[in-house]
Amino acid sequence: MCGIIGYTGYARAMPVIIDGLRKLEHRGYDSAGIAIYREGELEINKKEGPLANLLADLEDNPDSCMGIGHTRWATHGVPSDKNAHPHTDCKGRIALVHNGIIENYASLRKELILEGHDFISETDTEVAAHLIEKFYRGSLETAVRKTVSYLQGSFALAVISRDDPRTIVAAKKGSSLVIGLGEGENYVTSDIPAILERASQLYILEDNEIAVITPDKVSITDFGGNPVEKEIFEVDLEPIAVEKGGYDHFMLKEIHEQPAAIRKTLQGWIKDGRVDLSALEFDEAFKNTRKIYIVACGTAYHAGMVGRLAIEKLARIPVETDIASEFRYRDILWHPDDLMIVISQSGETGDTLAALREAKRRGIKVLAVTNAVGSAAAREADRVIYTHAGPEIAVASTKAYSTQLVVMYLIALYLAEIKQNYDSEEISGLVNNMFYLDAMVEQVLKEQDKIKNLAEKYRDVESTFFLGRGIDYAVAMEGALKLKETSYIHAEAYPAGEIKHGPIALIDDGVPVLALISQDHLVDKAMSNIKEVKARGAVVVAICKENLQENCQECDEQILLPQVNPILAPVVSVVPLQIFAYYMALFRGNNVDTPRNLTKSVTVE
Ligand code: AGP
Repeated sequence: MCGIIGYTGYARAMPVIIDGLRKLEHRGYDSAGIAIYREGELEINKKEGPLANLLADLEDNPDSCMGIGHTRWATHGVPSDKNAHPHTDCKGRIALVHNGIIENYASLRKELILEGHDFISETDTEVAAHLIEKFYRGSLETAVRKTVSYLQGSFALAVISRDDPRTIVAAKKGSSLVIGLGEGENYVTSDIPAILERASQLYILEDNEIAVITPDKVSITDFGGNPVEKEIFEVDLEPIAVEKGGYDHFMLKEIHEQPAAIRKTLQGWIKDGRVDLSALEFDEAFKNTRKIYIVACGTAYHAGMVGRLAIEKLARIPVETDIASEFRYRDILWHPDDLMIVISQSGETGDTLAALREAKRRGIKVLAVTNAVGSAAAREADRVIYTHAGPEIAVASTKAYSTQLVVMYLIALYLAEIKQNYDSEEISGLVNNMFYLDAMVEQVLKEQDKIKNLAEKYRDVESTFFLGRGIDYAVAMEGALKLKETSYIHAEAYPAGEIKHGPIALIDDGVPVLALISQDHLVDKAMSNIKEVKARGAVVVAICKENLQENCQECDEQILLPQVNPILAPVVSVVPLQIFAYYMALFRGNNVDTPRNLTKSVTVE
């Protein structure tokens, strides 16, 4: 969601904050702002639109050694200069940036207005600035502590005052906040990669904690004022790659990084031809598992759909896959031997974390699959398996998805062995096949120009359908999501056999239908459904395996996939859909890496 960066030290603050904002832009790009301390004043600049708008007018401030910055994804109030953060109190003495939602802002705002406070923005955040003003008696820390006791909802706050050229006060409840430790300088941020080049030693704030950060010291207390002893968290991560490496967009670069990411994610988990997750020291929980809940959002949820089919088929354990925002309001029939698997690229998705926390509250074991080292999901789950996709910058997720699939297969194969519910020949065949996935993805990437031509042909359509049966339906869901996100075209995924129960009414002359055909045992059924839509005027693009080419003769176009094992097919069959979404966005003149209305990390409910 919104990105936060703050710096206090003996060097110039502005370049550090700008660099941090660049690395945070994918978290929110409808406006950005900076507050810098200078000679007893807080200089505030904020601008609607992408970060470039702010930077265009920004003058460097060579004297300033402290400041805070923010990239916004609007929740309360339209994207505009006045709604952009930082927000200030009536006198401009206090400036703060916020990520999260202050749920009781309306009543607080009413009271503060009655007390004489002047509000400038439509945001929920501004109440925090005025509350701090109300409670401020010379100690920013005390005023922030008092303020947070009035706030309901979730917040990560970084606050500065013109009375103190050195101190940032940070507070956390619900939304992530991390403090980077340097020599004579310290940082605060919502996202580790924003400061990774500068600080690899971190304090990770937990809920209900306040940090007072100066260049030489960080002191942490809980909301009640009790000191908190923190262990230093060392991150061993490559600094975020902000270069596009010769590609025009991060999305295309990340699509092409998939073979390497798949190899890296597999590394270390396969020994002597067997998947071995014993290093997790979680075998007891795996053995006892009676039922699995896979909970995630968006693309990660689609990876979970594949995970469900793989686990049920290979390990014969019942699995439910749930959208996190729905899961937490279901009346789950919990059993102590249930296992929850949460999947999240960022490890910070609010809905997913809420589900994770609910499971933990019920005493259920949780395994997190995430790409973000040190993220809330990684820290709060009982165990974590990392996807080694590397930093994913494009908002539309690609390499995170394929590596999530790889981890789901590893879990399914390991559970199959542990539960001894398996056909050993099938399992070792699949394990062996996993080593070829990277090469198969390479092969599909070579179809890029053909897919680009298809995108050029269909660039002006208003509506598309993605059809598949079985595991292909899960991929159809991901293909449709990708196209919606980047091209803003209506894209609907349906189980191929279900379309005749209503949605076929939407099929008309020239409507493109992308049909996933990778399941040998379902090909005839799928083709019957394809004939039904063709008979109503659809143009059908088949994404089909080479060996099923003959069956797909009646489709208008074919993109061929290598002969992958049907269970593993999603890793390969999603690639043409990612490339298609990329080029559709490009030809329609959209912002490929930062599509409208979206953000990389959705931390609010
Ligand atoms: C994917 O292209 C999306 N941007 C989005 O659906 C994303 O997958 C979802 O918000 C979940 O994010 P997470 O994996 O970081 O939890």
